[in-house]
Amino acid sequence: MCGIVAYVGSRQAHEVIIKGLKRLEYRGYDSAGIALHNNGLNVYKKKGRVVDLEKTLSEEDLNSHIGIGHTRWATHGEPNDTNAHPHYSRSKNLAIIHNGIIENYSVLKQELVKKGHEFLSETDSEVFIHFIEDIQINNNCSLEEAVRLALTKVVGAYAIVIMSQDNPNMLIAARKGSPLVIGVGKDEFFLASDATPIIEYTNEVVYLNDYEIAIIDNNELKLKNTQDVPSTPYIQTLDMELEAIEKGGYEHFMLKEIFEQPRAIGDCMRGRLSANEGRLVLGGIREYANKLVNAERIIIVACGTSWHSGLVAEYFFEEFCRIPVEVEYASEFRYRNPVINEGDVVFAISQSGETADTLAAIELAKSKGAIIFGVCNVVGSSISRISHEGAYTHAGPEIGVASTKAFTAQLTVLNMIALRVAHQKGTITERRYHELLVELENIPAKVEKALKLDDQIKAISERFQNARNFIYLGRGYNFPVALEGALKLKEISYIHAEGYPAAEMKHGPIALIDEEMPVVFIATRDSSYDKVVSNIQEVKARKGKVIAVVTEGDALIPQMAEFVIEVPKTDEALMPMVSVIPLQLLSYHIAVMRGCNVDQPRNLAKSVTVE
Ligand code: F6R
Repeated sequence: MCGIVAYVGSRQAHEVIIKGLKRLEYRGYDSAGIALHNNGLNVYKKKGRVVDLEKTLSEEDLNSHIGIGHTRWATHGEPNDTNAHPHYSRSKNLAIIHNGIIENYSVLKQELVKKGHEFLSETDSEVFIHFIEDIQINNNCSLEEAVRLALTKVVGAYAIVIMSQDNPNMLIAARKGSPLVIGVGKDEFFLASDATPIIEYTNEVVYLNDYEIAIIDNNELKLKNTQDVPSTPYIQTLDMELEAIEKGGYEHFMLKEIFEQPRAIGDCMRGRLSANEGRLVLGGIREYANKLVNAERIIIVACGTSWHSGLVAEYFFEEFCRIPVEVEYASEFRYRNPVINEGDVVFAISQSGETADTLAAIELAKSKGAIIFGVCNVVGSSISRISHEGAYTHAGPEIGVASTKAFTAQLTVLNMIALRVAHQKGTITERRYHELLVELENIPAKVEKALKLDDQIKAISERFQNARNFIYLGRGYNFPVALEGALKLKEISYIHAEGYPAAEMKHGPIALIDEEMPVVFIATRDSSYDKVVSNIQEVKARKGKVIAVVTEGDALIPQMAEFVIEVPKTDEALMPMVSVIPLQLLSYHIAVMRGCNVDQPRNLAKSVTVE
């Protein structure tokens, strides 16, 4: 949830860390802090953004070559200067940055308070560093050993980096449940929650595993686990360009990512699909492919936008593979003693690959013998690593907190997997299979065309920017798109919005409709078109203001709707990848017009690594 960055080497540490924190701000932006070594540990902390923190740094600390920094999404304690990280130990000899939650912190805190420790903040992280120091003093051991012993006693999730006043060339890091990447440069090391703060300096990285501790001391990286067993660092080469994590001339990351979708969808299919050659190969699904083909049911676990992708996939898998699908909120699934049988197939969908509830749902399913297929965007992420097999979405880094290109890339991957399964199972005709492969290849061009509607959507946004509520309605494949449209609007513009299956409207939400209510219909030409037309009439009869997303050339709906957005025609099953585009743009423009922080909406964080 929070973002952490640390550096040791010959550069000015504050420069690397401040820049890195700005790149990680999407993970949390309640407060920020940095500790630098300059004849002692000097900690700066500030409620608010990294730019505010930057202004507070004093001249004499700028030459420090070692430091740790943090950008916070508050869990324990309100966002203020005191609760911001880094936190000091009692003697101020140690400082820590922490991403995650220590669940047994109050027990540890009570013991430490009995020993006379005083705490400045309300955070679990401050307890953590006091606890480490207490162990070091009591056992008269090295810091490395004290950290290891502490980690055997804390319950919860963490990615931590610790620096010490006495060891000006040493950083100690560890992870369990929260991500941590180490960049290996020439005589320098970078540590961060993800690779984005590292990539401009080096593409050689080591992903820390759960229960691993990294000790960086005098230009050397050692790894061991919490059981004190050493291991050799496995250095991987990152395939990521710096420009992928910069705005590239767009005003916001979200807009850039919306416009990147034709490329992202294309990248997702590249090397995997060729309609001409009748080829559909997913390199990440091999050994367990037959389990998938023979599955009696599929369970999909995910959260938020990824859950909406799961809902679209449900329609697709059921229609083409004839396999029953259950789509579950990971947070509900993990706590309700679900029926999972040996050999059940579970799909976990996650852009970040770090969502705590999705991870826990996987662990639960795995412990009962299920086979897990991960659909993640972030390469090397926790979910991708604990899944048996899977397929990356290859959408490139998604920095805007509201998910856009990850959604369409997830749909692309899930459609490809389902088609591959249906083909092997023989539940799809050759003709239909080929038709869908061809149409999938056409999707980037159709998305490109839908993006040309931007100016028209901006004009519609002006008309509705002050609305207090919105309803989004769709049927069939477009029902999850209605949910996604409503989620996008509420999260970035703070306008209340509800998504419903269009036919459900008359079972309650219809009572909300009056001349003030904008109702967005996703009403493209498909098997439920006539039914949706009736639903539009029901809204019109109650004077609702209809904004309809229709298929190009539709002659009927323009006679009823106030605003019509025409998207290119495609196969009904693939339409969500196209029909969601105007909804993303609508929410974007409304949010900008309302002066909202589009890339970093209030109270949200990009990867939700706490439950
Ligand atoms: C919405 C959004 C969130 C995420 C959800 C799951 O725009 O971004 O709803 O979709 O937090 O995150 P991942 O996909 O990283 O597991």
